[in-house]
Amino acid sequence: MNHDLEDSNRSANRSIHEVSDPARRVLLRGSAAGAVAALVGGCATGGSAGPKLGFKAISADASANGLRVPEGYVASVIAPWGEPVGVPGNMPAWKPDASNSAAEQALQMGMHHDGLHYYPLDGSNRGLLAMNHEYTDDGLLFPDGTANWNADKVRKAQAAHGIAVIEVERRGPQWEVVRPSRYAKRHTAATPFRVAGPCAGHTLMKTAADPEGRTVLGTLNNCASGKTPWGTYLSGEENWAFYFDGGDNPTADQKRWGLRPKGFFNWGGGDERFDARKHPNEFHRFGWVVEVDPMDPSAVPVKRTALGRAAHEGAWVSVTKDGRAVVYSGEDARFEYIYKFVSRDKIAPGGAKANATLLDHGTLHVARFDADGTGRWLPLVHGQGPLTPANGFADQAEVLIKTRQAADLLGATKMDRPEWLAIDPASGEVYCTLTNNSRRGQAGEPGVDAANPRANNVMGQIIRWREMGDADGTQFSWNHLLLAGDPANERPEAKGNVKGDVFACPDGIAFDGRGVLWIQTDLAAAQMNKGEMARIGNNQMLACDVASGEVRRFLTGPANCEITGATWTPDGRTMFINVQHPGETPSERSDPASPTRYSSWPNQGARPRSATVVIRKVDGGVIGT
Ligand code: FEO
Ligand code: CA
Ligand code: CA
Repeated sequence: MNHDLEDSNRSANRSIHEVSDPARRVLLRGSAAGAVAALVGGCATGGSAGPKLGFKAISADASANGLRVPEGYVASVIAPWGEPVGVPGNMPAWKPDASNSAAEQALQMGMHHDGLHYYPLDGSNRGLLAMNHEYTDDGLLFPDGTANWNADKVRKAQAAHGIAVIEVERRGPQWEVVRPSRYAKRHTAATPFRVAGPCAGHTLMKTAADPEGRTVLGTLNNCASGKTPWGTYLSGEENWAFYFDGGDNPTADQKRWGLRPKGFFNWGGGDERFDARKHPNEFHRFGWVVEVDPMDPSAVPVKRTALGRAAHEGAWVSVTKDGRAVVYSGEDARFEYIYKFVSRDKIAPGGAKANATLLDHGTLHVARFDADGTGRWLPLVHGQGPLTPANGFADQAEVLIKTRQAADLLGATKMDRPEWLAIDPASGEVYCTLTNNSRRGQAGEPGVDAANPRANNVMGQIIRWREMGDADGTQFSWNHLLLAGDPANERPEAKGNVKGDVFACPDGIAFDGRGVLWIQTDLAAAQMNKGEMARIGNNQMLACDVASGEVRRFLTGPANCEITGATWTPDGRTMFINVQHPGETPSERSDPASPTRYSSWPNQGARPRSATVVIRKVDGGVIGT
């Protein structure tokens, strides 16, 4: 999701970086990027030596309105929006005029494919794909778009959200969806989720429909994802506030979370629980990391409240030397934060069932990036420091429900929209995309700091850190892998330091089995190919050798899509990605009278559909070599 419509009400507190001397020095030096480079030059980097990128780069041809991959590679489409997922006996066919009912949509691929992981059933030849369906373009979802909006339309929109699990199999060089499959499953915005962790049963989680505060209907705006070492799928509920109607008199808490008078998706106009005036606690029941067991379609999915409530992009797991889980997450909103949860208990052998409560006990922290190239993880623990009843936190559950306010009080660093994270399997270093933040440095907004060094940051950057000690360490050293943007850009604020092929607005990132970092971009349709973005072209995927810093363009997408989701078979010979919202309009809502205005990918002449793309080498080799 591009989030140009995004406007969360960040803390009114000034960032500590605005008042600290080191940050002022960064500001006064003028060239913030240079200052940061000087500050962090000593940070060790991961990855092994030697060239890792063996393919020939492709150009950034914005006029090519299709999917392009390098010579020697083939890309094919599976599982577009609307295809049946393959639930036995329940496989309603896709209707190209978008006239499928809500009940049919709940058994089909959702809209706007995003985070994606492969779970082997038969090694690299057959497995499950679990993926998110982030949001809907209601101009495409219905034959008449948003006209005649009613409860039935809201039900269909809710059915097009959530998570899909499909079975896929390689037949020769081709991959196909296995249908029917006993694993096929849709979790939608109406599926019951169990609330687990410190907030389960809390007063602020209770509603008229759920007086126990332990069962929430649905997950929504699921963006990025993580695969746990115990075999489950973690998914972040990102911009859930957009779904609620707040009216004209929101509370301070609701304002801090970006509740607006009218939700962008207008669900309150058909499902009363999304009217926060009538059901204020329903608003507390989203913004969680959810955990799904793709191998067991009968397993009840869970909201893990110990990981905090936020506009979670996703969640990614590292492991301490003694086997505890460390879960990193960020929230994609301007001037929000990066978090780390450390589990109390060790990961148990025995998979999902043996680790059913692992993420319910532990300590959540928030990151402060200091200007000297070090940083601290600040614990979000009730009773410690300012997290007391006097400041509005009655107990630990309230700290977790009001994670943003707690992080504000601790002086965490306000970041430029943290999107995906990726953990270097060789070094344990953690990488995070900071996609952009055009409000950085504007009047009345936080200024630049060492970690977010550019005002009017339209290009974005990738930051990385190494924990001091084990993965549960409370201090880290950090630097930037790169500042995105064209090094030849004459506007200093937008000038990047990318070595190799230029890009803007990094979003998805993932390490493959060889330690290559794959970078996917999400530049909003409203800016694409205009002005200084002209050389950058459509959204794309690039590969980066983090040891040398070289970046090479691997794939470009159809007009106005974003590229997201990256996962591989264990042999590294098949890569799956998602193409989200091909042909999206700048308003993020298509005109049903001209649904193919910008693109009809992947079908000729039909309304565009998000879809999964399978990438193989013609010679069957390892992707990227
Ligand atoms: Fe859903 Fe932050 O992109
Ligand atoms: Ca994005
Ligand atoms: Ca994203």
